[in-house]
Amino acid sequence: MCGVMGYTGPKEAEQLLLDGLFALEYRGYDSAGIAVLDESAHIKMVKRLGKVQMLSDSLKKKPLHGTCGIAHTRWATHGVPSERNAHPFLDCSKRIVVAHNGIIENYADLKTELRAQGHVFTSDTDSEVVTHLVESMYDGSLVSTLRKVCMRLEGAWALVAMCSMEPGTIAVARKGSPLVVAPTPEGAFAASDLTALAPHTSDVIPLTDGQFATLSQDGTVTITTIDGTVVEPEPIHIDWDVSSATLGGYPDFMKKEISEQPQALSRLLASRVASGTVELDELSMDGAALLNINRIYIVACGTSYHAGLYAKKLIERWARIPVEVDVASEMLYDEVLADEHTLCLAITQSGETAETLLCSRKLRRMGAKVIAITNVLGSTVATEADGVIYLQSGPEVSVASTKAYTAMLVASALVALFLAHGRGLMGSGEIAQRLAELERVPAAVAEILDRQGLAKEAASVFEGATSSLFLGRGLNSASAREGALKLKEISYLHAEAYPSGEMKHGPIAVIDKGYPVVFVVPQDDVHAKTLSNMAEVLARGADVVAVASDGDAEVLPYAQHIMWLPPTAEWLTPITSAVYLQLMARYVALSRGCNVDRPRNLAKSVTTE
Ligand code: F6R
Repeated sequence: MCGVMGYTGPKEAEQLLLDGLFALEYRGYDSAGIAVLDESAHIKMVKRLGKVQMLSDSLKKKPLHGTCGIAHTRWATHGVPSERNAHPFLDCSKRIVVAHNGIIENYADLKTELRAQGHVFTSDTDSEVVTHLVESMYDGSLVSTLRKVCMRLEGAWALVAMCSMEPGTIAVARKGSPLVVAPTPEGAFAASDLTALAPHTSDVIPLTDGQFATLSQDGTVTITTIDGTVVEPEPIHIDWDVSSATLGGYPDFMKKEISEQPQALSRLLASRVASGTVELDELSMDGAALLNINRIYIVACGTSYHAGLYAKKLIERWARIPVEVDVASEMLYDEVLADEHTLCLAITQSGETAETLLCSRKLRRMGAKVIAITNVLGSTVATEADGVIYLQSGPEVSVASTKAYTAMLVASALVALFLAHGRGLMGSGEIAQRLAELERVPAAVAEILDRQGLAKEAASVFEGATSSLFLGRGLNSASAREGALKLKEISYLHAEAYPSGEMKHGPIAVIDKGYPVVFVVPQDDVHAKTLSNMAEVLARGADVVAVASDGDAEVLPYAQHIMWLPPTAEWLTPITSAVYLQLMARYVALSRGCNVDRPRNLAKSVTTE
């Protein structure tokens, strides 16, 4: 939800800021703006409705010159997407400018107060109050003023600010929304996400909640707390390949990221599997501690929640620990029964999802040990958790999660195997055998990519449809949910998912001639039951797509289109079937003329509740 960027140094700021916004655009793309301090310390600003490209096109005609600037790409919360509501915002005197990612919950009261003081607002946003507060409280130092301002704010923020009175200085603040800073020989940078800084440095400093930083023109960064105490920076080293955040010849990031899955999964496995054992130091607990875990809570949202559903089934099957899993926005307000014998798995690609963070903090306060499963180095979840399992998928730019999802499934399987072994429920021989099965998955996924024509053909059943149903059983009931979500979010076609057996308890009523129904039906222990469900929908005229195991002749009479799964162990079919469902969703979305990377109304990182 929104991306912020700041630069001060010896170079022209405009292009650096624009490049940063392009990298951050996945966070929001309804409008964008940039403000640069010119030679005579005047703030020059351009904002445009639409994607960063619109802003870039405008700047080509009328460039902004200056070596200190801030920028923003927006995902609207308060106020419609428009130029008027685009960030950054100037104060009344046009000497202070601020961009904000997050939400100012008490903005209405502050706005009333500031209006009474004579401040004039130019937007409908919550964020603009920050600029006017800085103006009203300015004490001669931007960062010191920002500290005082933040004491008056409620909500979440990553703020970047600059002013005419302190040319060459940018002040930033963070609470609840991600913000990284980087001192470099070519100037000092701040951004919502380290991918925006990757072209400039390999070492970045993620700020933690309650921290402030001053970026100076000589490229230095000073980090302070709310009371002004200077904090020793804790840089992290980025070892991601910068080129992984570029299209590299693919038509869109979704296609690229789907195609990267064999390598991404191999990378994760190579880092966690050695000599037939699972290496998860993050869970390092001796046997007694592992035996003492009596409950696991899995905290996640959206696609990550679907990975949690898979994790629950495997952990309960192999490690015999009861697992609670619910979307974090529900669990956050539920009575949870956590204590020091509880393990919390926080699954989140971005590591910044508001509810996932809030809920894992709640469990931690109750005594639970929190293990984060995330893709983003230095993300908030990673800095707060007791241990982190990085997905190592490389940057996921497309809003729809693909490679991170399959990596979450692999990470979940590793956790389940680790716990089963540690609790003495699975011997070394069986662990080695399961890991060997897991290690064959990247090749199976590569084979699916070679067969993606099957997904393209299957996509044709959605032509003219206004709704669809996705069904699966057992481990693959999560696959059905994920398939439906993927289709819905990028094609805007309604899709609903149910466990297959639940279909006859209501959803079957929607089925009519030509209604698209997708079944995930690999040869597993519930195969025969799912075939019966397929017969039921076929009898009512549905157009059926199946994701089925190679060579399964039994499924042939029940489906018009079949996406064949290369052989894997049954418990791994949610990983391989996910790839077909991603490909199919993309083909449907493309046929409907949708932008698969930037679906409407969605943002990659959802940092407000
Ligand atoms: C769907 C999707 C979202 C996210 C959800 C949680 O493709 O990407 O449903 O899974 O917003 O995000 P993370 O995993 O970053 O916590």
